[in-house]
Amino acid sequence: PHQETATMPGIITIDSPNVKYSDTHIESQYSYQTTAVRREGSTITVSPATHEMTFRTERTVPRVGVMLVGWGGNNGSTVTAAVLANRMGLSWTTKTGEKTANYFGSLFQSSTVSLGMAPEGEVHVPFRDLLPMVHPDDIIFDGWDISSMDLGRAMERAQVLDWSLQEELRPHMSSLKPRPSIFIPEFIAANQESRADNVLSGTIAEQVEQIRADIRDFWQSSGVDKVIVLWTANTERFCDLTPGVNDTAENLLATIQRGGEVSPSTLFAVASIMEGCAYINGAPQNTFVPGAVELAVQKGVFIGGDDFKSGQTKIKSVLVDFLVSAGIKPTCIVSYNHLGNNDGMNLSAPQQFRSKEISKSNVVDDMVQSNPILFGPGEKPDHCVVIKYVPYVGDSKRAMDEYSSEIMMGGSNTIALHNTCEDSLLASPIILDLVMMTELCQRVQVRAPGEQDFQSFHSVLALLSFFCKAPLMPPGAPLVNAFFRQRAAIENIMRACLGLPPQSNMQLEYKLQ
Ligand code: NAI
Repeated sequence: PHQETATMPGIITIDSPNVKYSDTHIESQYSYQTTAVRREGSTITVSPATHEMTFRTERTVPRVGVMLVGWGGNNGSTVTAAVLANRMGLSWTTKTGEKTANYFGSLFQSSTVSLGMAPEGEVHVPFRDLLPMVHPDDIIFDGWDISSMDLGRAMERAQVLDWSLQEELRPHMSSLKPRPSIFIPEFIAANQESRADNVLSGTIAEQVEQIRADIRDFWQSSGVDKVIVLWTANTERFCDLTPGVNDTAENLLATIQRGGEVSPSTLFAVASIMEGCAYINGAPQNTFVPGAVELAVQKGVFIGGDDFKSGQTKIKSVLVDFLVSAGIKPTCIVSYNHLGNNDGMNLSAPQQFRSKEISKSNVVDDMVQSNPILFGPGEKPDHCVVIKYVPYVGDSKRAMDEYSSEIMMGGSNTIALHNTCEDSLLASPIILDLVMMTELCQRVQVRAPGEQDFQSFHSVLALLSFFCKAPLMPPGAPLVNAFFRQRAAIENIMRACLGLPPQSNMQLEYKLQ
């Protein structure tokens, strides 16, 4: 029922009457099984339901360009360097021996999924091989920074990569220069002002036009098929949500025209959406004011965020899930961070810290609310987040966490963690995953039961939530922070595109007589 073509991903072939391969698409007939639940008093009635759907995935992987806002920062320079090093297959020597470029920390590049059992045992394949996906080696980078430093010097300033690797990369990095950016000083910490030597002038409406022109210029001059824009610039302070200013797309656009208060990250979102480019926010601020979300929906453009889930919060979304789903009651979570990079310096200002604090604090809510045996209505663990700027530790962020829990019969259990995490080396593969996931979703269409037409995912791309501390969700959608539930959603939706049932882990064939 299928044919091999050049664009066939890896070696996986689905042998099923429900899956058709054409030169251009993989089309699967998929039975989506859900439950409808009704609660009347103490009676809960659950009705299983099956929805027949069609998934259609374009097979041809386009050439992808990524424009980073904050390109000259630690993440921006590190992810660019890492891709170049991988593309060129670089290796370098450190005091502990030879290292080779890799993509460790990328869900798609470096983790695997199980396809099932072969006679010789379970078969795992790289996550990226499930469906045709862009390879990070093929991504072309461009971007903006308020600091004019070229990427070679920016990499040196970041102090992330080994020196001998930097020396190999410098000739390739030095020719990359960030475009001038939108700088509105009041949104980031005052301590950033000294690096702002590469900034646009004119009204904010004119600056948005310039950003749009930059996107078109990169698109045309690089020859990529599509452009994705990602904010990895400094954390901004939160923006006030004001009726008439940023509550609708129309009002937001009017506010830009008259020069009212709009944050740089929202201005980039608007420019990107107007150019039809997906926009991802890797920092915690509320870039996606309601007007920006409405604009994305109107234009049918993907947006996603907020705030990369790289270190401490990733562990939190695993550990609290473990505790609550094991029936243990976390009562107190205290997280200290100290870091010495420019992100840490920016976060040492109260308003920027506040953005981060909010984004880091809500991450346990869904897990706590899922268990009314442990937590009464409105009850939550005490949760405190502290961030301090300590220059000496540079990009090697220290994260110290204490999780206190109540166990059986009034007992207590305290887990203390000390995590030294090279921040930008954790965030860079997540940037790549966000791009790979977004680009794939742009090629997937779904036909719902009884519908004639195919539709895309919602503009607010909830599948990106796995990679984000404070997931942006479509209106009314339940928020999931729990790590393995988020991962399962990605895996199972990709399996659905191949007409495969969700990974149930039942392994019934080994549990019977
Ligand atoms: P960084 O401070 O090294 O880089 C940010 C860059 O943005 C700087 O080069 C700065 O000049 C530039 N910038 C500031 N405002 C700008 C504007 N309006 N337009 C263009 N460029 C602008 O910070 P780093 O470590 O690269 O982190 C970047 C962002 O990612 C921060 O907001 C951080 O909170 C967030 N993040 C980082 C994580 C990690 O590194 N593990 C995890 C989660 C979020």
